[in-house]
Amino acid sequence: ETAEQHAAFEARIARGDKIEPGDWMPAEYRRQLIRMISQHAHSEVVGMLPEGEWISSAPSLRRKLILMAKVQDEAGHGQYLYHAAETLGVDRRELVDALLAGRAKYSSIFNYPTRNWADVGMIGWLVDGAAIRNQTMLAGCSYGPYSRAMVRICSEETFHHKQGKEMIVAYARGSSEQRVMAQDALNRWWWPSVMMLGPHDADSPNSGALSKWGVKLKSNDAVRQEFLNEHVPELLEAGLSIPDPDLHRNEAGDWTHGPIDWSEFWAIIRGERGLGRERLATRQAAHDDGAWVRAAMLTYSERQRAQAAD
Ligand code: 3HC
Repeated sequence: ETAEQHAAFEARIARGDKIEPGDWMPAEYRRQLIRMISQHAHSEVVGMLPEGEWISSAPSLRRKLILMAKVQDEAGHGQYLYHAAETLGVDRRELVDALLAGRAKYSSIFNYPTRNWADVGMIGWLVDGAAIRNQTMLAGCSYGPYSRAMVRICSEETFHHKQGKEMIVAYARGSSEQRVMAQDALNRWWWPSVMMLGPHDADSPNSGALSKWGVKLKSNDAVRQEFLNEHVPELLEAGLSIPDPDLHRNEAGDWTHGPIDWSEFWAIIRGERGLGRERLATRQAAHDDGAWVRAAMLTYSERQRAQAAD
């Protein structure tokens, strides 16, 4: 990689060009995008598990239909994102093998248990709310296939977010039992949602390269601030209390959280706490169950190729 190539690449980034799969790019740019996009794809696929287990226990047909549609959307997001990663020259089987072998990360948020139906609403409101803030930022990123995937994903996430908020607001205004369930879900999902947007900027080793090359247009803390400023007023408006005694508005009017327990964050990511092991075991079982489908598709495509060659 010559200095001229880097200079030309950075001039393209500065101009706001979209970098496309066949374009020259620094090896580190490619590596960072493969790391980030594959983790994003893994997060979508593993993210189907916490909510999927509640589809059969939905309290009404309407809630069941909404949740089925949401979980199917997450599967589709995973497919877009594995495909976006493949445009960088990596094979999706390699990515999935890394996930199943515990060598690839996915979002910490999905290693928390869903204890009851109110969790489905809180995940929609908080987790999809955080994801929308992050993914709206990424929709402007310099890598073409990733930014275009984000545009499509964000439009579907908006529906996920709205349905979760509608559900929790209804419970917060409902019976005392529903109010208790909504508050309990907030108590368990608040801090994991604040943490899912990544370590503080000072502890974010990937942010330098990602920001320099126009992938991360806002820092982890900036996206977290957007998340707080949007969700704190709405949660308080719904009559819920936020489990952070230090939460306050600073002079600039920004909601400011108390200290984050990053030891929990890393323990959850390493699978030492939470459901990491169970999530990977479930993914491994699904992968094994689907082996015959992959074999059949491979045989079919080889036969198609042979017939086309005749
Ligand atoms: N969970 C697991 N690992 C995390 C994490 C999280 N929430 N946040 C950070 N990390 C990891 C990073 O991957 C990195 O480890 P690595 O170098 O081994 O990959 C390390 O912690 C240091 O963090 P950095 O801030 O340096 O990492 P990034 O610059 O990559 O920033 C990020 C982290 C903001 C999550 C960024 O990767 C990102 O924007 N990723 C794309 C979006 C994404 O993956 N979202 C996940 C949720 S998807 C979702 O919510 C689906 C929706 O439909 C519900």
